[in-house]
Amino acid sequence: MPNSHPLGTAIVTGASSGIGKVYAERLAARGYDLVLVARRGDRLREIAADLGARFGVRAEPLVADLAQPAGVAAVSDRIADETVSLVVNNAGFSALKALTETPDDVVASMIALNVTALTLLSKAALAAFQARGSGTLVNIGSGAGFAPYPKIPVYGATKAYVYHFTQSLQSEVAGTNVRVQLVLPGAVVSEGWEVAGGGALEALPASVVMTTEECVDAALAGLDKGEPVTAPSLQDETLLRNHETDTQALLQAMFDARPAARYGLRPQSQAGGAEAGIDVQTL
Ligand SMILES: NC(=O)c1ccc[n+]([C@@H]2O[C@H](COP(=O)([O-])OP(=O)(O)OC[C@H]3O[C@@H](n4cnc5c(N)ncnc54)[C@H](OP(=O)(O)O)[C@@H]3O)[C@@H](O)[C@H]2O)c1
Repeated sequence: MPNSHPLGTAIVTGASSGIGKVYAERLAARGYDLVLVARRGDRLREIAADLGARFGVRAEPLVADLAQPAGVAAVSDRIADETVSLVVNNAGFSALKALTETPDDVVASMIALNVTALTLLSKAALAAFQARGSGTLVNIGSGAGFAPYPKIPVYGATKAYVYHFTQSLQSEVAGTNVRVQLVLPGAVVSEGWEVAGGGALEALPASVVMTTEECVDAALAGLDKGEPVTAPSLQDETLLRNHETDTQALLQAMFDARPAARYGLRPQSQAGGAEAGIDVQTL
């Protein structure tokens, strides 16, 4: 077994395939020791052995079902290990179905994995990194989180959660050596499309689908640049900046003591919060 590496240990969830598997390879190539998390132990053991042999790093499989509290607890415990310097919250899945056609257990486990596990593992990571004074958390959201998506009503909403939640964490660590990066892939070639229901990836034009490798390489380039939000396939960055500016303005404007004029009510207060220059996020 090689000695541990100065970069520390990276924990990658969902490392048995797709984006997580490529993260594991790229981080091993950078010199991180690895803890690889997923349910399929056979795949994790194979990947860990391969990465250990090719890059001379420690690579440890951790078999856990993150849709279950026991799986989340096992990974949270591992995050508390002082060698851990990077956590990639990547495990997630989708179902390409209307809500009424999606079985209850699928809805529940999607929310448990995409929302609850990501939230609790983020909490474990921030607690550990803040105590140590450094560390990096990477949360994988999705371009599908920007707007309502009728074909993926639960998945899109879980990724909207990741978008807001992860950016809130960035405020919590501002001014410290703890970093939080939000990664927003578009459409990426992976087994995830089969898990979601099959057939949909093949139906997409090649011009909108990115390779897993390019997605992860762009995400890591964004991390190296210090980006808080990295959208690997978004060509025009000003769209994201404008969205952030617009949603901030909307948030401020939502809080006003007066009913909006279009409702025809007689306002009992004089000035709205936005006009009074109140920043509602500091209240
Ligand atoms: N592919 C895309 O177009 C795309 C676009 C935007 C965002 N994303 C996001 O990228 C992330 C990775 O997705 P992917 O496309 O790479 O899909 P993928 O190839 O299906 O990988 C999903 C990974 O999550 C693991 N996983 C699933 N359920 C789990 C559970 N209950 N407990 C622990 N691990 C679990 C899977 O391993 P096991 O089955 O072995 O547990 C697998 O390693 C997801 O968060 C996804 O929402 C993907």
